[in-house]
Amino acid sequence: MAPAAAAATMLLLLLVALLAAPTALAGGEKIPTLVFILAGQSNMGGRGGATVGGRWDGYVPPQCAPSPRTLRLSPALQWEEAREPLHAGVDVGNVLGVGPGMPFAHAVLRSARVPKGSVVGLVPCAQGGTPIANWSRGTDLYDRMVTRARAAVAGTGGRGRLAAMLWFQGETDTIRREDALAYAGRMEAMVRDVRRDLAMPDLLVIQVGIATGQGKFVDLVRKAQRAVRVPNLRYVDAKGLPIANDYTHLTTQAQVRLGAMLAEAYLATLH
Ligand SMILES: *[C@@H]1O[C@H](CO)[C@@H](O)[C@H](O)[C@H]1NC(C)=O
Repeated sequence: MAPAAAAATMLLLLLVALLAAPTALAGGEKIPTLVFILAGQSNMGGRGGATVGGRWDGYVPPQCAPSPRTLRLSPALQWEEAREPLHAGVDVGNVLGVGPGMPFAHAVLRSARVPKGSVVGLVPCAQGGTPIANWSRGTDLYDRMVTRARAAVAGTGGRGRLAAMLWFQGETDTIRREDALAYAGRMEAMVRDVRRDLAMPDLLVIQVGIATGQGKFVDLVRKAQRAVRVPNLRYVDAKGLPIANDYTHLTTQAQVRLGAMLAEAYLATLH
């Protein structure tokens, strides 16, 4: 072989080796390939096992166990191995338990529809007790979410992409009739703004139909949720899942179910 051809072959082999290398950070952690925003209020933040006695019972079902292929964006915007409670340091001022994020990641990674070797990156952004008005463009929660989503994707060094935003919110908007009636319009505006600010006009959004509410207009908000008209929006209904005896929060087992339902909704969009 001529020297030039040999050099070119070496270069090619090196390139192939680099591309085939498992996606890993310096510390040995992997790099997410599929990034998901988790936003909303307490049922997204996770209260499974945390509704009695002011503390979390610490129970982590197998579907929520840590895995080297599931990372979370830390409050300091670093990728780290994800573990319950997933929203620690993000959903501040609240007693946190199990949410839908970990079982969602497990169910996605179990599927043959995602490429082999996929790594899920979860970007927890939820904050308990917040109405949707607190998530409109320019609010602290909105800015935090967009900042975290950008940092999350940048932190993959080009290997990962934002795959979807999972949204579970609306319980606080059941208190006042005006808020319930304004819900669909506010949700549509928020989705449009997020897509524009992240420069992802087609970003998939999966919205959870609320199962409970802090007020009496639960049915009005649920109706508004189903009336939201934006492209590329999916709907998963939490109504009927087991609720803790605070009548507000999904139990740990309910969150495991919801995580699987969200994963089904996401996987159904892949062809
Ligand atoms: C929600 O909005 C209200 C009214 O603007 C504000 O006082 C409150 O601090 C906000 N809460 C959060 C968590 O952003």
